[in-house]
Amino acid sequence: MNTADFVVVANRLPVDRVGEDEWRPSPGGLVAALEPVMQRSDGAWVGWPGQPDLELAPFDADGIHLVPISLSESEVEHYYEGMSNDTFWPLYHDVIAEPRYRRMWWDTYVKVNERFARAAADVAAEGATVWVQDYQLQLVPRMLRELRPDLTIGYFHHIPFPAYGLYSQLPWRRQVLEGLLGADVIGFQRVADAGNFARAVRRQLKYPTKASGIAVPTADGGTRSAIARAFPISIDAEMYEELAQRPDIQARAAEIRESLGNPKTILFGVDRLDYTKGIRHRMKAFGELLEDGRIDVADVTLVQVASPSRERVDAYQHLRDEIELTVGRINGDHDTVGHTAIRYLHQAFPREEMVALYLAADVMLVTALRDGMNLVAKEYVASRVDNRGVLVLSEFAGASDELTTAVKINPHDIDGMKDAIVQAIEMSGVEQGRRMRALRRKVRENDVTAWSTSFLEALTQARAESQR
Ligand code: G6P
Repeated sequence: MNTADFVVVANRLPVDRVGEDEWRPSPGGLVAALEPVMQRSDGAWVGWPGQPDLELAPFDADGIHLVPISLSESEVEHYYEGMSNDTFWPLYHDVIAEPRYRRMWWDTYVKVNERFARAAADVAAEGATVWVQDYQLQLVPRMLRELRPDLTIGYFHHIPFPAYGLYSQLPWRRQVLEGLLGADVIGFQRVADAGNFARAVRRQLKYPTKASGIAVPTADGGTRSAIARAFPISIDAEMYEELAQRPDIQARAAEIRESLGNPKTILFGVDRLDYTKGIRHRMKAFGELLEDGRIDVADVTLVQVASPSRERVDAYQHLRDEIELTVGRINGDHDTVGHTAIRYLHQAFPREEMVALYLAADVMLVTALRDGMNLVAKEYVASRVDNRGVLVLSEFAGASDELTTAVKINPHDIDGMKDAIVQAIEMSGVEQGRRMRALRRKVRENDVTAWSTSFLEALTQARAESQR
């Protein structure tokens, strides 16, 4: 107890349970980014092991102290599936799906956030730094500050923060802002997200803001300063480059092309099966291109990996049905015995296979209707050590701010998206190389270590200033 100098609090633990007492590191980039910091500074990670009713004592894995938070069946339903993924998720992604506001979900969300805050307060050493992650835990910063005023508290929001006109729908809009403002630094993906947050704070709480600083009133009648600004997250670019250079993975990429009948062009999409990703829009554009005769099924194949996600939430079940109906229709209309229009895979793959797919893909389609960052776009770029391939990227993905030489699209504009796909298919090697080299430079320069370092530096500085 009270021994960790650095504590991460996230909805999920950085490990997956693979057996009774067996854990495997989960594939997320966050773990990789924070591992060095964790090991240097006696780190702990507070999180949910991913299954209901699992009561586990804290344990150590790879030099990290893990503190499991137990959630009952009904807490998973109300806090995780309900409030997190059927209220905040659709609201924060511009109400692409209709958010549901249920008081019972909110009550459980408060209760579960308290549990996370208390666990973090129990494990953090005097004066420690605590870094809270994402929308499932927006109340934790303030709760933690009340329990442990000695701590330095950071919060990073991995998803978009919506415009005020949408945010103001939330029945608990003040509580959530107060919750987040418990942090010394509140990080967002895009400058626009930080701006939306500051505006909500001004409108709802009337706290003055100046540049990235927000003056938050304190109990003694004074104010403290909280910083809200953008820190675009990234990937371990070097790891992807190394994988992409492995002969076995390159051989696998060739094998993938072969097994698809060696089409001239492979289009590739990979997403969690989520309505924010624009998978239906992408398929609509692709289906119409076949229909119009602008592309031929013998030459062009779309490989779509849609990994299973949040399968007990209604909106996700409906989406799956719609997508699978669409795939069936397009394939039924356009497949030949030897060629398929869409190779659809409702599965998750290990990272090695993903990199082989990136190498096999001539055109990567990232068509999100709204996305905090979209790391797939960055993974594709990092994997293209040959400086070939075209990234088609939605301007509604956070990655669009940095990846400026991608082929940009508005996924709502189906005709525009169709033209962009044809442009990508026809792009010369020279033009591909020019764009890809610029993209690769960006991803290398701002990798995930640069991201975590800059956030933690801002946190140290903010704390030093607030103590002055
Ligand atoms: C997004 C969120 C993460 C979340 C992940 C997977 O990237 O920002 O917080 O962990 O999706 O979703 P899941 O509900 O399976 O944790």
